[in-house]
Amino acid sequence: MTQRVLLIVSGGIAAYKALELVRLLKRRGIAVRGVLTESAKQFVTPLSLGVLTEDHVYGDMFDLKEEREIGHIQLSRQADLIVIAPATANILARMAAGIADDLATTILLATDKPVLAVPAMNVRMWHHRATQRNLDTLRSDGIHILEPASGAMACGEYGKGRLPEPEEIVAEIERLLSFVRAEPVEALPFSSGSERPSTGSGRTEVLKGRHILVTAGPTHEPIDPVRYIANRSSGKQGFAIAAAAVRAGARVTLIAGPVHLPTPAGVERIDVETAREMLTAVEAALPADAAIMVAAVADWRTADAADQKIKKDGSGQPAPLALVENPDILATLGRHAQRPALLVGFAAETQSIADHAQAKLMKKGADWIVANDVSGDVMGGDSNAVQIVTAAGIDIWPPLPKDQVATRLIEKVAHALADRD
Ligand code: CTP
Repeated sequence: MTQRVLLIVSGGIAAYKALELVRLLKRRGIAVRGVLTESAKQFVTPLSLGVLTEDHVYGDMFDLKEEREIGHIQLSRQADLIVIAPATANILARMAAGIADDLATTILLATDKPVLAVPAMNVRMWHHRATQRNLDTLRSDGIHILEPASGAMACGEYGKGRLPEPEEIVAEIERLLSFVRAEPVEALPFSSGSERPSTGSGRTEVLKGRHILVTAGPTHEPIDPVRYIANRSSGKQGFAIAAAAVRAGARVTLIAGPVHLPTPAGVERIDVETAREMLTAVEAALPADAAIMVAAVADWRTADAADQKIKKDGSGQPAPLALVENPDILATLGRHAQRPALLVGFAAETQSIADHAQAKLMKKGADWIVANDVSGDVMGGDSNAVQIVTAAGIDIWPPLPKDQVATRLIEKVAHALADRD
């Protein structure tokens, strides 16, 4: 069955590359319907896009003929995947804010289909805090983002912000489309091996009926009423995994340490502060089909948190702090009567990554350890280079944005659970 992409072209200098993208997609047998924003029409004409898509090009929200023939709701639903390429800083901002003030953004607000945004903009606009904040929001809303490439820009500057090559965009589109089939889910049993689990609607359903437990963020261990022991975990990777699991149709419980991140839509979030609170919340959330323990749990807490602020006495003596070990939540689940069928731990390592991860697998009774190299700026950063260590071997992934690590990990979880049925 022909797969259908609704391509929204927004107004940037890279808009002309959308034409090549359409050509490549059509050559692969993928049907494309085009939507141009008002400013995109300054760069690409409806005629040239229409000739290549062999379809009407949509653009005007209030064109009665267009609206009568095929309303914006249908436009948003009749595709298997919506792609915005190029996606300007402006359209990303409007999407993040939920603004629907033209046909493109109305479609994006009304759709129930997966959405891929391919940003392209000036390097300073890309790095601006507002753009990065909007991207964080969009990622946690489940929008797929294909990061821009680096290089010389049309404006004469150099850096990140170029539209990726059309071939690269096509590869990402094909990867996302491989999760979308037109047949009803029930007709397609899970399969193992190289064939990917199928999906019935745009949102994949491969984890439908499953309960996935995710821990994320740091824990804070109080020293006294004003101080605590903490670490640099931002929670981004765990939140991205929770969002990806919801997109795959799972019921998701996210047990989060103290972080400043919005709750991904559809996720049940339980906020905790300390390792012991996290353990209690994790046990209360059982049973689960899979537990993915991403939290950077503090290994130690103070033996006795003081009720009053501890005063220094000026004697130069070491601080009066006695530390005791926190419970290991992952290891506790590893030997729990209600152990999830699939137990996944994370391991932050700076050296001998695979060896340390192998050792942790055994020690904690986990099925997989996702080992990440934290020698760079992973903690708090947006990308991650991981190796999945299992009893069967090691799967090394290239450095990827955290939301792509999340999507791939959830695909792997879905396969593993299906295999265990
Ligand atoms: N973890 C946990 N409870 C703890 C410590 C860690 O559940 N008290 C989990 C983490 O969520 C992660 C995995 O164990 O999934 C590995 O955490 P890591 O801190 O790398 O392992 P440690 O056992 O603390 O080993 P080390 O610090 O010596 O590397």
